[in-house]
Amino acid sequence: VVGRTRINPISSNRFRSVMITTAHRLRQLPSRRKAVASDDDHLILPDQDFSQQAHIPSFQKYQEMYKRSIQDPAGFWSQMASHFYWKKKWGQQVYSQNLDITKGNINIEWFKGGITNICYNCLDRNIESGNGEKIAIHWEGNEPGFDDSLTYNQLLERVCQLANCLKENGVKKGDSVIIYLPMLMELPISMLACARIGAVHSVVFAGFSAESLEQRIIDCKPKIVITCNAVKRGTKVINLKDIVDSALSGSSQNGIHVGVCLTYANESAMKREVTKWQKERDIWWQDAVPKYSTKCDVEWVDGEDPLFLLYTSGSTGKPKGVLHTTGGYMIYTAATFKYAFDYKPSDIYWCTADCGWITGHSYVSYGPLLNGATVVVYEGVPNYPDPGRCWDIVDKYKVTIFYTAPTLVRSLMRDGNEHVTRYSRKSLRVLGSVGEPINPTAWRWFFNVVGDARCPISDTWWQTETGGFMITPLPGAWPQKPGSATFPFFGVQPVIVDEKGKEMEGECSGYLCVKNSWPGAFRTLFGDHERYETTYFSAFPGYYFSGDGCRRDKDGYHWLTGRVDDVINVSGHRIGTAEVESALVSHPKCAEAAVVGVEHEVKGQCIYAFVTPVKGVTYSEDLKKSLVLSVRTNIGAFAAPDKIHWAPGLPKTRSGKIMRRILRKIASRQLDELGDTSTLADPSVVDQLIALADS
Ligand code: WT7
Repeated sequence: VVGRTRINPISSNRFRSVMITTAHRLRQLPSRRKAVASDDDHLILPDQDFSQQAHIPSFQKYQEMYKRSIQDPAGFWSQMASHFYWKKKWGQQVYSQNLDITKGNINIEWFKGGITNICYNCLDRNIESGNGEKIAIHWEGNEPGFDDSLTYNQLLERVCQLANCLKENGVKKGDSVIIYLPMLMELPISMLACARIGAVHSVVFAGFSAESLEQRIIDCKPKIVITCNAVKRGTKVINLKDIVDSALSGSSQNGIHVGVCLTYANESAMKREVTKWQKERDIWWQDAVPKYSTKCDVEWVDGEDPLFLLYTSGSTGKPKGVLHTTGGYMIYTAATFKYAFDYKPSDIYWCTADCGWITGHSYVSYGPLLNGATVVVYEGVPNYPDPGRCWDIVDKYKVTIFYTAPTLVRSLMRDGNEHVTRYSRKSLRVLGSVGEPINPTAWRWFFNVVGDARCPISDTWWQTETGGFMITPLPGAWPQKPGSATFPFFGVQPVIVDEKGKEMEGECSGYLCVKNSWPGAFRTLFGDHERYETTYFSAFPGYYFSGDGCRRDKDGYHWLTGRVDDVINVSGHRIGTAEVESALVSHPKCAEAAVVGVEHEVKGQCIYAFVTPVKGVTYSEDLKKSLVLSVRTNIGAFAAPDKIHWAPGLPKTRSGKIMRRILRKIASRQLDELGDTSTLADPSVVDQLIALADS
């Protein structure tokens, strides 16, 4: 599949979905997630006082509500939707769906015909109900001591000014806007401003390279790009404007001209004067935006009008533009936030995710603001200036709900308990985890050390595609098992299927699918509905296939076991092996590359690349460095391989397919588990690879 040319997404997807249905895949489930009986039997009972005050105080209450949500989705979700403002109620049919590819095109709709606006529901609605002076955002800068805050009133004013500025610059309903910003308040402000005027935002994580940004600009053709000149991460200054300049000139060469680049001057990182500037295109945010009125009428949109696009990685080279629409996403993120964190109006909520990922969309911005919550937005890295920073922030703002990723938990665990215990943390009452399976050891440390064994942990399993939580504990409602995401959220019907797509009952292990739609589901891949259908709905007809493996234990608890497709999860960041391979083979000295994920103590998985240089090129450390650089510039630093393994040849079947199973074993040095290598076109490559393992 990998060669000098970029991969054709459609055809190689088809190829891979066929592969997924072959039996050996099931055996590929990572061994560290194997059933360990003691994990299954380790119950942590909810604290009675906590349960008594919780929205869902018992398993019985959950079951009642869950049952209703499955038996009468229309009634259940209509009731949830009634807490929000609809200019016009949705039509007779609350939802319509077809998830069965054998019965025609895949189609999901919720609240169609309903007229609303998510920005209005986040801001104006909360202000009208008396919360205008409540803090919406506490912003904490990279440098301790730098902070700021906005009330709901102030946030609305800022959003309106930007919305007016966008309109004045030609942005209309349905236009896309790319946002390439770090975690400044201007990031959620930009998202909300787009939503207010019906524009479709596409946030690109500000760690992506110029090439990645360019690719996204070419795909969604934004009217305007919003960025800032630079950002400080830890002690490093990153010049974001240079990256945007390069992406915009690249997209111009491809015929996509973006007329306006609205640039926030982040003076704490870089002075305005030294920022490179293109007069006819670039506008300073601070010069333009404050001139506009602090009032801006809402653009009322249909429940099914697009809200945002978010690119994510899949099995093939080209990132997928996951499209979410307005009404269902709004109701779903609001409801999941409220129940999975047992949110109360007095809570102070902090989620460490960046708005460049789905977690930052659903659970930094929309979910919390829809609930009228006070949100902490942190600009910096969690261990700067020292590993105690998170708890410093928790104590400073009296954070009650803290939501983060297992990779951070593991890295803080390694830094030592003293960095945690020297802070009070007594405000904390709920903890959350997301991004990858949390191993029981990290779970227990999070629970015992960070939460002083008082705070339930919501281990939320979900995806960019699902919009919101799918399988998650509801704090206080049932006993926890360290490392298990436990039970489905209301309205979600997870099923575990075998390799033939047959649903399995009771205790089992297999592929995690979802039966029937839920309001937060993505509706398509931007500009490529066919790829949407082949990637997610063809492998197991009748179901949405998540790409994850899952085990259900004797008590019905769900244990996520990691991706079963060619996606690697590095520190909770989803990276396609094909994307990395494509970046490697773009290097002039690389003939072929194959990338696999290998277990990593802190990151969960790391990227391990087998590289065959072009004929005549000698292996060298310099070449390794330059190959890694190629990935950094093509994708971003977060996707850089941890290891380059020289490969005179790759293990291929006679039909030319790379046998990744063998590569994974070599990469993890499980050399006695290589399995049958006799079907390889040239079995001797395996010995060559083993010989080169440490060179
Ligand atoms: C993939 C989705 C959803 C927000 C962050 C990542 C993995 C996510 C968990 C969890 C086990 C998890 C899955 C999933 N994942 N949360 N709690 N337990 N695995 O979003 O980039 O779309 O990645 O992340 O493998 O498929 P994403």
